[in-house]
Formats: sequence, structure tokens, C-alpha cells
Amino acid sequence: MYNWLNALPKAELHLHLEGSLEPELLFALAERNRIALPWDDVENLRKAYAFNNLQEFLDLYYQGADVLRTEQDFYDLTWAYLQKCKAQNVIHVEPFFDPQTHTDRGIPFAVVLNGITQALQDGQRQLGISHGLILSFLRHLSEEAAFDTLEQAMPFRDSFIAVGLDSSELGHPPSKFERVFAKARSEGLLAVAHAGEEGPPEYIWQALDLLKVSRIDHGVRAAEDPRLMQRLIDEQIPLTVCPLSNTKLCVFDDMRQHNILQMLEQGVKVTVNSDDPAYFGGYVTENFMALYDSLGMTREQAQHLAQNSLDARLA
Ligand code: HPA
Ligand code: ZN
Repeated sequence: MYNWLNALPKAELHLHLEGSLEPELLFALAERNRIALPWDDVENLRKAYAFNNLQEFLDLYYQGADVLRTEQDFYDLTWAYLQKCKAQNVIHVEPFFDPQTHTDRGIPFAVVLNGITQALQDGQRQLGISHGLILSFLRHLSEEAAFDTLEQAMPFRDSFIAVGLDSSELGHPPSKFERVFAKARSEGLLAVAHAGEEGPPEYIWQALDLLKVSRIDHGVRAAEDPRLMQRLIDEQIPLTVCPLSNTKLCVFDDMRQHNILQMLEQGVKVTVNSDDPAYFGGYVTENFMALYDSLGMTREQAQHLAQNSLDARLA
């Protein structure tokens, strides 16, 4: 079954480039940049990948991103991810990057962006993988900081297709960024947002009505609100669901409790994605495989999920 799932043509629509930083590359970049790490070795670091919630993960994810310093580092990170895509027949990617994680450490915006876009262009030419890049704002930071980031991004406007919203969800509702998203949309950018991962269905309503998003990232808590479910179905709003992420961050206690196949059968346009594969134990095929192993996903359902990912592309 693994090989069959791996061979399905797929798009990945919910992937944080910083979350694809494998421990081996993290150690290699630390050495290259002469950065001391608090972990003795790769194995030791992997042992730290046990999380009770989103925030525990984010603390380690931001710490890990500190080894990314040069344009070459961002290139190597992105290129390693694209190689994985090639191996799993992911033919189109719409990855996120978090500029504030880097600019707040003094790394120039252009250094981050140039490394990523160079690799994406090489991926298109050499691997045949098409792409659209999404600039994601950190929601635990202020509206003002997001405006500042958007301003820094505007000279590179053509490098992006959309803006996104990630990081600590609880206490940071989409409404906090209504004006920033309006500005981004006025520049012709599309919008997506993480909502309904740990946050309530109300945050999904806000993402749709205030941020005017084209897709919801995660969105699994929509199942708690029948009116919202009906809207997602009626308007065929895609959800970029990340099964391994949801179980690693205890959004569901167990994969057998995951609601993705129920939503699929109800007519919601759900897709399968890896979120932060280096931290959550697998890339897209492993996420599909988990649904087969724990939920008895059929081949027909897998084909439907893969087709949804291709249909939900923004680029
Ligand atoms: N949720 C919110 N922020 C994130 C995530 C996530 O799953 N991954 C990386 N940043
Ligand atoms: Zn995410």
C-alpha cells in the first residue's frame, strides 16, 4: 500500500519550510555556522520531539530555526524538502515560511527569501515540481509587526501567491490581523490562515469572514459546529489537514479518533499534508499511510484526497 500511495500524484498545501529541517541538517548547519547546540547529537534531539500541545512544539521549532543563517542555509533547507517531494510524487507545493522568525534574529528578509526562491526555481526546472510560496505572519506577535513584515515583503511582491497566519492560535484570533490581511489582499495577494487546530470554530468563521481566506489550514475543529460544516461543504472551502501533526500535538488523542475521513464522506474538501515533517514523523506519504493503518482508508478515498489537493491549489 505504501508504494501505491507514494505513486499517487499529489500537491502539498500545508508545509512550513522551517518544519522540514531534519535533525541531521540542523546539526550540519550548526557546525557550518559554528553554533553551539544544547543537544549532544541527532538522537538526543529526536528524543526532545515529544509534545503535549502546539506551544511545546513551537518552542522547539523556533529554537531549531536559529541554525538558519545564510542564503545557502535556506537554499539547502528548501532543496532537501523538494527532494522528498520528488521521491513521494508530490508534483506541486505551496509552502509557508515565517520571515519574522528570521528577521527578528537580524537575518535580512532578502537572505531568507533568495535562498528559498532559488531552490524553488531549481525544483521547478530540475525536478518538475511547480510551486507558490506563502508568507506567513506569526500571530503571537503584534499587528504592527505583521504590517512591518508586509512592508518589507512588498519589494518582492511577485515571489508570493498569498499570506498566511500561524504560530500560537489560542488567544490570537484572526480578527487581530483583519487590517493586515486587507492590505495584503489590496496588493493582489490571496489569503490562507491556520484556524481550528487548537482554537474554536469561531476562529474559522473569522478567517473566512474577516480575513477572506481561500483555504483553512487544519480546520479540524469545524466538526464541532454544524452550521460551519454546512458552509464549508456548500462553498467547497478546502481544509489542509495534517493527520500526524494533529496526533503529535494531541489535537486528537489517537489517529483512530481523527475526523478527516468523516469530513471527506460528508463532502468537505479535505486534503492531506505534513505540516512540519521533520518534527512529526513523516512526509505526505506517511500521512496517507497513517490513515490507511489507523482508519482503514480505501484506495478510492486516497484518490479523492489526492485529487482534492490538486484542485485546491492557488498557483
Ligand atoms: N500550527 C501553528 N503554527 C505552526 C504550525 C502549526 O501546526 N507549524 C508551524 N507553525
Ligand atoms: Zn501548520
